[in-house]
Amino acid sequence: MIRVLFVCLGNICRSPMAEAVFRQQVKDANLDSKIKIDSAGTAGWHKGKPPHEGTTGKLDEQGISYEGMTARQVEQKDFADFDVIITMDEDNLATLQAAFSIHEASTTVCKLMDFVENPKEENVPDPYYTGDFDYTYELIEEACSSLQTFLQNKYHI
Ligand code: 4NP
Repeated sequence: MIRVLFVCLGNICRSPMAEAVFRQQVKDANLDSKIKIDSAGTAGWHKGKPPHEGTTGKLDEQGISYEGMTARQVEQKDFADFDVIITMDEDNLATLQAAFSIHEASTTVCKLMDFVENPKEENVPDPYYTGDFDYTYELIEEACSSLQTFLQNKYHI
């Protein structure tokens, strides 16, 4: 089982969107028995809450399930529990690097847009501030497709 954790700041807008989108893509590719997906926030402000209505609205529009998803904060244990930890932007990455001993872990820690060749953005814009859930969705959907190809090649699945 390959274990993938998406990370953003609040775990209510971007990383739950990535979790739901990637889970759907993985299911459609019949890889759901091989890839486990979760998400978390570097901050714990929204712990226990469902995703933001902008994210659920976009997922509803696309027919993608987010059933049972609630926010949680990243913890040290995640670096043992996940093979790949993928942040939405460079700030999230810097926060993880500052708060956790990730160099000793065998976990790959990188940004979502790192999986896209010639990306439109280096960081996934935060719709909590931009209000543009459509653009964030577009970037996440494309990057998650590339992530799936990357994992299939890396783990020969
Ligand atoms: P996210 O967006 O990191 O994509 O979940 C945010 C959600 C909440 C807050 C900031 C960003 N906040 O300040 O509460």
